[in-house]
Parts: sequence; structure tokens; C-alpha cells
Amino acid sequence: MDACDPETTRMEFQLLHTDSRSAARAGVLSTDHGEIRTPIFMPVGTVGSVKGVFHRDLEQEVGAQIILGNTYHLYLRPGTDILEQAGGLHRFSAWNRPILTDSGGFQVFSLADCRKLAEEGCRFHSHIDGSAHLFTPERVIDIQRSIGADIMMAFDECPPGDAEYDYAKKSWELTSRWLGRCFEQYAKTEPKYGHYQSLFPIVQGCTYPDLRARSAEFVQQFGADGYSIGGLAVGEPAPVMYEMIELVNSILPQDKPRYLMGVGTPVNLLEAIERGVDMFDCVMPTRNGRNGMLFTSEGIINIRNQKWRDDFSPVDPMGHCFADTAYTKAYLRHLTIAGEMMAAQIASLHNLAFYLWLVGEAREQILQGTFSEWKPVMVEKLSRRL
Ligand code: GUN
Repeated sequence: MDACDPETTRMEFQLLHTDSRSAARAGVLSTDHGEIRTPIFMPVGTVGSVKGVFHRDLEQEVGAQIILGNTYHLYLRPGTDILEQAGGLHRFSAWNRPILTDSGGFQVFSLADCRKLAEEGCRFHSHIDGSAHLFTPERVIDIQRSIGADIMMAFDECPPGDAEYDYAKKSWELTSRWLGRCFEQYAKTEPKYGHYQSLFPIVQGCTYPDLRARSAEFVQQFGADGYSIGGLAVGEPAPVMYEMIELVNSILPQDKPRYLMGVGTPVNLLEAIERGVDMFDCVMPTRNGRNGMLFTSEGIINIRNQKWRDDFSPVDPMGHCFADTAYTKAYLRHLTIAGEMMAAQIASLHNLAFYLWLVGEAREQILQGTFSEWKPVMVEKLSRRL
């Protein structure tokens, strides 16, 4: 559908099948920029580009159905005036499939300097030039309207993984009050470019089951199109993260998509899919790829390792993008050691294509009713170091 079609529709989620032996689901999320088949992995394009990967390759080689942008980064650069003049991020970046934006909460707390958190919002200094800014829930909705994201995130605080109970509770209460303000602003404002924009609340509560449960109950009053699970993979042990996901998903509505923010390894994805998560994003395939780590269906490769020096087999004979069979491991190792840009491009493309293959395969297994047999076999393989 054309991005500027004035006939906006509300986002729809169709649940096609739920696994009989786990909470794993396969569905279709419809947006004005096209359908997203879930479970899905969303490549991270923080400033409007997935680092080192052409949009053409994201579409044709990786099979990306939706990508991420970031409110904090796009607000600082290029700024909402340029994005509005361009007609929104889809037009500006020439990406005509769906876009999801993170609200910037996470980045403000992890990147920006001298942050000051208060009831009204968060004051911070830009990591680029030190300039002072204020993010409020209202401002963050306005910025995401200017970006034109198909799926917008509420403004939240993401506390550290080891936060004490009292801090976690106060933080969740603040995030909950901010959520009300986000939805008020959402109701008061209109999409700027003709396509529908949804707003997902973010469930917080650290690793405290009572806070997580209250958060998962609380967010439902807004009748959102989908729900995000934040504040995980921030230092807590993986089994604790899985426990929180299971708990939250047992409370969130069945008929809406659930997005686990910032997670994770291929094994994390399968464990979370088994517990009912539908959407994921993570910098891992691109960031780790740039450092020479390749994820494959047989295990993890550190391409810098001496053992690949004279291995002239394809990068990944079972791979799903052209680069996997066009180049050898020895060549990719050479490029990586030499610090060539091309190494980062090949590894990013490979890892993203692998992540998209993995979630696509999980979806097929769910639809076929074989997910429960397939998953443990894959987890074992994915955990290997080659
Ligand atoms: N990305 C990863 N975790 C989080 C979170 O808790 N909140 C937000 N806004 N983004 C995230």
C-alpha cells in the first residue's frame, strides 16, 4: 500500500496457530506498509540505516519485513524538521516497509550524559554535542509522529537488572504515569503522513514477579494494538529473564502481538518464542557481526580464529544470502583481520539473514505442529562454538 494512502486502517493481528505443547504462536500483523509474519526479528536501523546493509539487500537477501528506528538518535540527528520536510522516515530513507521506533527512554538512560529524571520527564545532554534537551512522554509521542513510525513505543524508564525492589517499584510507577500521558497525547494527535500509527505500552518491573504482574495488568487498560516487554537482558541471568517472559505473557492478551525489546541471542529467541513472544529486535547480529562473530545453524563462528585461515569452504553452505556462498571463510577472515569495511558488510548480511531464517523456520514449525521437537535440537546446535 502506498505510504500516503489517506485510507488508514487500524493495525490488525491475526493469530494463525498456537502450539499445543507450548505458548509459541504464529500470526500476521497487518500495517499500512504491509504484513509482518510473526514470530519476527526486526533489524535495528538506529539512525535510519541498518549499519552496512543496503535496503535492497534487507528486502531481497535478508527478507526483513520491518526495521527499527530510534527516537533519541533521529531527534538529535537529522531532527524532526528535516524528517517532516522529507515526508517522514519511510520517504527520507527510501524504506517502504513497516518501521517501529523505540521511544528513546532506553538510550537516554544508557547514552546521554548528565540525565536528570523527574515527574515531567528526563533532562539530558546529547552524546553528540552536549546540548541540553528534555524528553517528556508528550514530546516523545510528537517526535514519533514526525518520524512516522508504524509502531511507536511509550516513554519508559528501563532500570538496571540489579535494581533494588524499592527503586524498581518507584520506577515502574513513574513509567505507568508516563504511559497515561503518552496515550493522552496519542489521542490528541494525528498521523502526519496518512498511515496509521499504533502505540505499544512497555511492561516493566525488573525481576520482581509482583511488579511484572501488576505492570502486565496495568498496561491493558489502554486497549493497545500490541504490548512490549522491556527491562530484560540487562544483566539478569537468562533463566530469570525466561521466567519473567512466561509470567508477563500469561497475563497479556492472547490476541495482540508481544514484543520483547533488545533480545537477543538465537537461543534467547527460541526460548522466548516458546513462551509466546512474537517480535524481537537486537543489535547483536550486526554489532557482533562487525566484530567477526557469525551465527549459523550449526553453531557460532569466530571468523578471526586462526583455524579459518585456510578454510576455503563457503562462509555458510546452509546460508540464506548470496554472500554465504559467494565468499569463503578464509577470505572473510582475511577481510576481518585487515579491517576491511566489506567484512562488516558480509558478516552483517549473513547474521541478519540467519536471524530472519531462524524466526521464519520457527514459524513454519509452529504452523506444522512440530515446534516442540524442533526447538531443543536447534538450541543444542545454536549453542555450539565451531
Ligand atoms: N530496549 C531494550 N530494552 C528496553 C526497554 O526496557 N525500554 C525501551 N524503551 N527500549 C528498550
